Amino acid sequence: MTLAPEPIRWRDGILELLDQRQLPQRVEYRAHADANSVWQAIRTLQVRGAPAIGIAAAYGLVVAMQPHRNLAGDAFLVHLGGAADYLASARPTAVNLRWSVNRLVTVARRAMPATGAQLYESIRQQAQQLHAEDRAMCHAIGRAGLPLIERGCGVLTHCNAGALAVSELGTATAPMYLAHGNGVPFRVFAGETRPLLQGSRLTAWELQRAGIDVTLICDTMVAHVMAEGNIDLVIVGADRVTANGDTVNKIGTAGIAILAHHFGIPFYVAIPSSTFDADTPTGAEVAIEERDGDEVRTVLGNPSAPAHINVRNPAFDVTPHHLVRAFITNAGLLKPPFATSLAGALGGTSA
Ligand code: MRU
Repeated sequence: MTLAPEPIRWRDGILELLDQRQLPQRVEYRAHADANSVWQAIRTLQVRGAPAIGIAAAYGLVVAMQPHRNLAGDAFLVHLGGAADYLASARPTAVNLRWSVNRLVTVARRAMPATGAQLYESIRQQAQQLHAEDRAMCHAIGRAGLPLIERGCGVLTHCNAGALAVSELGTATAPMYLAHGNGVPFRVFAGETRPLLQGSRLTAWELQRAGIDVTLICDTMVAHVMAEGNIDLVIVGADRVTANGDTVNKIGTAGIAILAHHFGIPFYVAIPSSTFDADTPTGAEVAIEERDGDEVRTVLGNPSAPAHINVRNPAFDVTPHHLVRAFITNAGLLKPPFATSLAGALGGTSA
C-alpha cells in the first residue's frame, strides 16, 4: 500500500514541510529555518491538519531556538516562551498547536537549572518524541476503528484527516487504511471541502494512491448520496473536542452530522488525545478561525464570484456532541456520556 508522502520531515536539525498547497499537482518540500517561516507555513496551510500543525510548531520552536543555544538557561527560557506564543498564534482553532508548544516549554522549565545548550537538547528530543507518539496514536486509532469498516460498506469523510494531516495513517483514515490492508472491500466517499478543497486535492489523492476505492463528491451532494443508501457511516477528524464532546472540525462537518442524524447514519469522530481539550467546557467557547474572503471568491486562485462581493469564510464549525455516535481514539472507542468517557480515557490537554 502506498501511503502519502510525510507532511513533516526532520533531518539533522533541518525542518522540511511538504507544501500541501501544491497538491496533487506537485510533491514539493520546503526547508524552514526560523519561527517566522514556520508561522507562515502554518498560517497559509502549507502544512495543515490539527496534529500536523502541532508537530510543525514543535519543530518550529526547535529551529527558532537554534541561535539561542549559547544563552544561559534563564535567558533561553524567556526566548522560548516568546517563540512559543508566536507560533501558537498562527491559527486559533486546533488545540494541538498550543498543546504541543506548551509541552516543549514545560519540558524545558522542568529541566532547570540547566544551560541553554541542555535546554535546547531537551526540547529537540521532546519534539521528536511528540512526532513518534503521533504515529503510534494513529495506529491505535486505526485498531479502535477497524471493526466499524465492514465488508461492502460506504464511508463518508470530510476535509482531510488523513496521512497528510497527521503521521502515517491519519486519524479518520486510519481504520480505512488498516481495513484495506486486511483485504476488506469498502468504498469511501470524499467530500470536496470548499473553499480550499482539502477533500478533493488531498483525501481523494492519498486514498487513491493507496489503492482504496474512493469516490469524490461535491459538498452539496451529501444528502443525495445518503438518501441513495450509499453511506453506512461517517468518519471525520477534529481540530478540537471540548470537555462535553462538542466537535470543532472543518466547515461543513456540522451539516453532515445533521444529515447523518436525519438518515439514521452513525457519525464517528476520530481523534488522538492531543485533540481533546478538557479545559474548554463546550464548543461555544472555541475561537473559530475566519479566513480571507478571497478563498471564497476564487477557486484555486481563479475568480469565481463578482469582485469584492461580501462573503463569510469561517474555517470550522461545531458539531453538537449529541450527534456523535462515538469517538475513535488512541484509547479505544469512547461512547456517551462523553463528559466522563473522554476525560476518563484521554485526560487533560495541559502539558
Ligand atoms: O484547515 P485545515 O485543513 O487545517 O483543517 C483540517 C481539518 O479540519 C481536519 O479535519 C482536522 O484538523 C483533523 S486532522 C487529523
